[in-house]
Amino acid sequence: MIKLDKVSKKFGTGVLGLSDVTINVDKNEFVFLVGPTGSGKTTIFKLLIRETLPTEGTVTINDWNIIKLPKNKIPHLRKKIGVVFQDLKLLVDRTISENILLPLEVAGVKLEDAKKRADEVLAQVGILEHKEKFPVQLSGGELQRVAIARALVLSPEILLADEPTGNLDSATSWEIVKLLSDINEKGTTIIMATHNSDVVKSMNKRVIGLEKGKVVRDDKRKKEDNHSSHKASDDAKSMTDKPEGHGKEKSRSSHKDLEHKEEEKE
Ligand SMILES: Nc1ncnc2c1ncn2[C@@H]1O[C@H](COP(=O)(O)OP(=O)(O)OP(=O)(O)O)[C@@H](O)[C@H]1O
Ligand SMILES: [Mg+2]
Repeated sequence: MIKLDKVSKKFGTGVLGLSDVTINVDKNEFVFLVGPTGSGKTTIFKLLIRETLPTEGTVTINDWNIIKLPKNKIPHLRKKIGVVFQDLKLLVDRTISENILLPLEVAGVKLEDAKKRADEVLAQVGILEHKEKFPVQLSGGELQRVAIARALVLSPEILLADEPTGNLDSATSWEIVKLLSDINEKGTTIIMATHNSDVVKSMNKRVIGLEKGKVVRDDKRKKEDNHSSHKASDDAKSMTDKPEGHGKEKSRSSHKDLEHKEEEKE
């Protein structure tokens, strides 16, 4: 569904953001993108929504070469991909409801239908009661939910979440991850960039690791590994009840190596 083939990205400053990156993500996968700060996670997201172009290589989504996509087709691509940005990008002078309505208005949805859809998605992420408030009146965890609601409002096939637990306490982080896991179970493909090694260890999802713009790890789970897939969703459920109750998974040594490096650098 999502393919980066031998992608490199050199910025105007000469910095190599990505170097020879090849990644395939199937429909309905949940993938963690991990790596130290500056390793290229956000750059991958920017390439996927055509905010930036690679210097080399190809990026395809549903067999669609998005590098060759004419400019007037970019809005069509962006309807397929919801993004929770690292800095959220919420409009501070609009209410939560107005923030969610905006993508619907841009997509030309009738106001009455848009309001219904906005309420539906705010209820899905559990913050309907805050809809008339302004972003400054909400907590960090609530704001993450707003950003997730906005990313979901056009029912995208793919959700990219860039460090959605970045500034949250442990309990709130688990709630956000549980929410993303539920969204994934309903059929949305998810890539989540994160530094949160507790979440990564406990969820038993596929992990792609980046370092200095290169893929240093990709432990794609075997398709036949149904047992662990069930276990992962059980774990996700138990985590929200008991935020500290993780770490039950067998940790793979390659995971540990990368996470130690991350912790050292943070
Ligand atoms: N527009 C830009 N111009 C120049 N260099 C850039 C630009 N965007 C990113 N970079 C550089 O590319 C590298 C990868 O950046 P990126 O934002 O993808 O990292 P990241 O893995 O998302 O980091 P973090 O965990 O801090 O969010 C970094 O060295 C960064 O400084
Ligand atoms: Mg980033």
